[in-house]
Amino acid sequence: MGGLTVLASGNGTTLQAIIDACESGKISARVELVISDHRNSGAITRAIRHGIKHEVLEYAIKKQDYFRELISLVRSSSPNLVILAGFMKIIPGWAVLDITAPIINLHPSLLPCFGGKSMYGIHVHESVISSGAKYSGCTVHIVTPEVDSGPIILQKVLEVRDDDTPATLQDRLKPLEHQAMVEAINIILSGKYVVKGNRVLTMANQK
Ligand code: GAR
Repeated sequence: MGGLTVLASGNGTTLQAIIDACESGKISARVELVISDHRNSGAITRAIRHGIKHEVLEYAIKKQDYFRELISLVRSSSPNLVILAGFMKIIPGWAVLDITAPIINLHPSLLPCFGGKSMYGIHVHESVISSGAKYSGCTVHIVTPEVDSGPIILQKVLEVRDDDTPATLQDRLKPLEHQAMVEAINIILSGKYVVKGNRVLTMANQK
């Protein structure tokens, strides 16, 4: 059994997919701690509903102190894996390096496109639609000090429809995001992968 620490800001549908996969045995681990930067987030409600330990860390203090406190909370749960499941704060590089467990992030585009500091949530889908891109998707990657640039674990692709709006694209992508997250967690927990450059290769794909 491995312990998962999940950081989530919003509705928490990705957190829910992780909890469901743990409860059904699709992931051989448990969510030990949920941390949110919003006390009224769906993520906190879901943690309470499932009897999972949870902490709220709101942004009322200096940035440096905020992330020091965040790191100490994460460490207190001794996680095997830290998961950013719709966590809308950018963790500074020094803080990423201070967490010894692997950290993974779900991003709602096919990185390296539509990533970076101002690209989160619905803004990503707005940019995809206005770019005229015919395909979008999601990426789960290992978090490194550079925002949205760490080694890619896996991606799922979705065709952009002519009548898509940012909201419909966001909604249609959610089920794929949930699948991607569960698969990525299993890849990392299996330990059967190697990182080559910016790619995460599973044992089966290694040459
Ligand atoms: C997901 O779409 C995820 O890709 C996005 O936040 C959403 C969380 O949804 N993450 C980012 O934009 C990170 N840059 P949820 O609260 O329903 O899980």
